[in-house]
Amino acid sequence: MANEEVTIFSTGVFVIAVYLIKLVLLMKKDTTSRKEPELGKPLREREFDLDEQSVFCNSGTYSCVPRRLVHRQIQLIKEREWNPFRWYKTTHHQLLEGSLNAVAQLVGAKKENLTLIDNTTTATNVILKNHKYFPGDKFLVVNQHTYPAVWKQVEVVARETPGVGIVDIDIPFPIRSKDDIIGPYAKALKENPGIKIAIVDHITSNTVTQMPLQELIDLCHLHDVIVVVDGAHAPGQLQLRVEEYGADYYVGNLCKWLMTPRSVAFLWVHPKHQSTLRPLVTSHMEYMDNFRERFYSFMTRDLIPHFLVKDAIEFHKELGGIDVIVPRSSGILTKAVDMLSKSWQTRELGICPELRAPCMRMLAFPSELNEIYKYSDPGFCRELSEDLCEEGIHVKCFYFDGKIWCRISCNVWNDMDDFEKVRDVILKFVREKKERIKKRTLTQ
Ligand SMILES: Cc1ncc(COP(=O)(O)O)c(C=O)c1O
Repeated sequence: MANEEVTIFSTGVFVIAVYLIKLVLLMKKDTTSRKEPELGKPLREREFDLDEQSVFCNSGTYSCVPRRLVHRQIQLIKEREWNPFRWYKTTHHQLLEGSLNAVAQLVGAKKENLTLIDNTTTATNVILKNHKYFPGDKFLVVNQHTYPAVWKQVEVVARETPGVGIVDIDIPFPIRSKDDIIGPYAKALKENPGIKIAIVDHITSNTVTQMPLQELIDLCHLHDVIVVVDGAHAPGQLQLRVEEYGADYYVGNLCKWLMTPRSVAFLWVHPKHQSTLRPLVTSHMEYMDNFRERFYSFMTRDLIPHFLVKDAIEFHKELGGIDVIVPRSSGILTKAVDMLSKSWQTRELGICPELRAPCMRMLAFPSELNEIYKYSDPGFCRELSEDLCEEGIHVKCFYFDGKIWCRISCNVWNDMDDFEKVRDVILKFVREKKERIKKRTLTQ
């Protein structure tokens, strides 16, 4: 080859190589951005209809349904109303199967052990009211940690049979390790041979604690105690392996951290309890052998939220799924708690890092709030939450241990700006309340 030809050839090779490298880099960038769309404010604007004037840091109570799922919900309603007969005979079943398959895969459960149900409250009622109780039987619940509505169900069931009791244990703060939780359970189980059912929260609501689930299930089973796992907050916050836990029942809400429309949770039932478990409402399917069919017997009920589970799980995956969403939320919350506790001169609830709920944290409000709301009437927390909603911030308020606590949640639409707004609104709120009280005392 002549010199000139060699130069042309090498330039050609060089140009092609540069082009190929650029192409590879572009493709790589493309897949990364496809896997992880930007979360926080851009996502909120693109996918949610949340009020722009407010900050929503209370997914622990009410999450939000993405716009595309709301549209799909409307589309399904229209489809149903176009031909209701066909809907209930055919479409209904196909959509349900799709949802059950998606949940089973997500939570690590066998489909045949799962059913969908309206919410955790309904599921725990079904479980507790299906068992037969005899004098001497007891329930095991945990002060501050067991969800108040579940606690009330236990009280109602216990009241119905004379001689049935409740063992309530304390797990005081700070919680330094799993042993601080396992110890009180072990003691109660040893001292109370009559315990028949233990309620174990996977993630507690009011105290944002991740319970050592496997250890507690195994411990209860050593004492022949039935374990009901209240996993209302777990789907979407934790990578679940429901089948492996081997509990008796596991219940998880899908409308909180997976953002399905409200009115859908899953109920997993150990095969040994399936033949006797019945829904609270008796209907046509009462005598079906399969427990799942018995739970899908409500004929004209509106089950559209149940059919959107698959779409919700796909949306969650599109955002990166638990592996992306949860570390991001935990990271933001750690910074937020640090920033808020410095600014409010307060502290976080004492829970060791490995037992903290991934997407919810709890810290005390500025102490001046205690002085403003002097009384410990349970109603005042609701009043405080409502006052804060008026100010445009949504957080959960609790009163215990002589302090008012603020639970903050981080979901896919949140970013650090939201928590900065929470900080500023609270400081302003406290300042204004104090000024108002001062003026009132001066004029009295
Ligand atoms: C731990 C826990 N259990 C049960 C429930 C009740 O859930 P639902 O209101 O969806 O029935 C909640 C609700 O927040 C909860 O946090």
